[in-house]
Amino acid sequence: MSNPSLLILAGDGIGPEVMAEVRRIIDWYGEKRDMPFDVSEGLVGGCSYDAHGTPLTDETMARAQEVDAVLLGAVGGPQYDDLDFSVKPERGLLRLRKEMDLYANLRPAQCFDALADFSSLKRDVVAGLDIMIVRELTSGIYFGEPRGIIQEGNERVGINTQRYTESEIERVARSAFELARRRGNKVCSMEKANVMESGVLWREVVQRIGDTEYPDVELSHMYADAGAMQLCRWPKQFDVIVTDNLFGDLLSDAAAMLTGSLGMLPSASLGAPMDNGRPKALYEPVHGSAPDIAGQGKANPIACVLSFAMALRYSFDKGAEADRLEQAVEKVLADGLRTADLLGEEGATPVSTSGMGDAILAALEASL
Ligand code: NAD
Ligand code: IPM
Ligand code: MN
Repeated sequence: MSNPSLLILAGDGIGPEVMAEVRRIIDWYGEKRDMPFDVSEGLVGGCSYDAHGTPLTDETMARAQEVDAVLLGAVGGPQYDDLDFSVKPERGLLRLRKEMDLYANLRPAQCFDALADFSSLKRDVVAGLDIMIVRELTSGIYFGEPRGIIQEGNERVGINTQRYTESEIERVARSAFELARRRGNKVCSMEKANVMESGVLWREVVQRIGDTEYPDVELSHMYADAGAMQLCRWPKQFDVIVTDNLFGDLLSDAAAMLTGSLGMLPSASLGAPMDNGRPKALYEPVHGSAPDIAGQGKANPIACVLSFAMALRYSFDKGAEADRLEQAVEKVLADGLRTADLLGEEGATPVSTSGMGDAILAALEASL
């Protein structure tokens, strides 16, 4: 049997810096755990635009469809701000999500004990936090038509459309309920059914799927604005949160700060199962290309490393090896190693991006 295949799209800004550390970890698994991967690389985002005039070529798109999993760094940067909308770096990532039909975006927010004092919230509020945001990723206002900027009389109008079909809501709801069954058995669905028809439908469909297929899972509903408030007030009330594309984008960045830094949050974007029974999948940190710190060795590689741990778990059925990697991360944090985004406590040891990679590799080695 051939080795599992990985396509690495490191992207822009700190993307290549954090991905370099993940490459070393992938190699370690090949050598030390007898888990070789066939790794290929490609361009996405601004770097692809610079090379090919498009943020994602058809060849790279086709390759992403073939591999067992895609690992992505980050895309974007201020030098691309003035590009036409159709070739902006972010369009490359959105095309991958849409054409691979990666409708369920899993964004876990876990607070490692060693970082509980680092969160902007009190230790009590975040210590032991372990929630999962399931963000719908291929529809909603990100993709709805009509969209565009049109001339209306003597002024321009910017238009985007929030649109959800019942089947789009059903499938992401099922993903959330399935995850909840393997966790704390609770789902909270967030929308704005008080002002949006798409929210009314969302609530109705999630409730129906819950009642008919998952009566054993506790289901609640919240307006997304109240949900944002509750996420800051007492986040441990949640287990799985399921929400739409835009609300999920916002709520997951907010959840990142519960864990201490945006540099800590991984994600898995999953689609329908392929012939081999595994979901189509793309793994990426929640953070962006961080232009303010790019090229300085300051980026925290942990979000990207933990995204690879999610790949081990969800694409390669290596849950124990994913645990090993997550425990290695927990160990280096407990030892006080901190990249610049996590500095501030007394007694912490500052490390660079590659210094953090070295420490995680050493912890992996020590786990054998
Ligand atoms: P960002 O996530 O890049 O950065 C926000 C802040 O968090 C910055 O201060 C940054 O330094 C810090 N930060 C982020 N990741 C970090 C890490 N790993 N280690 C340490 N600090 C980290 O968001 P932004 O500044 O709003 O966006 C910059 C660019 O990235 C934009 O072009 C945006 O569209 C793009 N973006 C891409 C993705 C993605 O590729 N998935 C996600 C979000 C934003
Ligand atoms: C994210 C990002 C993306 C999004 C951008 C870069 C397209 O913010 O992955 O959270 O808005 O989905
Ligand atoms: Mn985002």
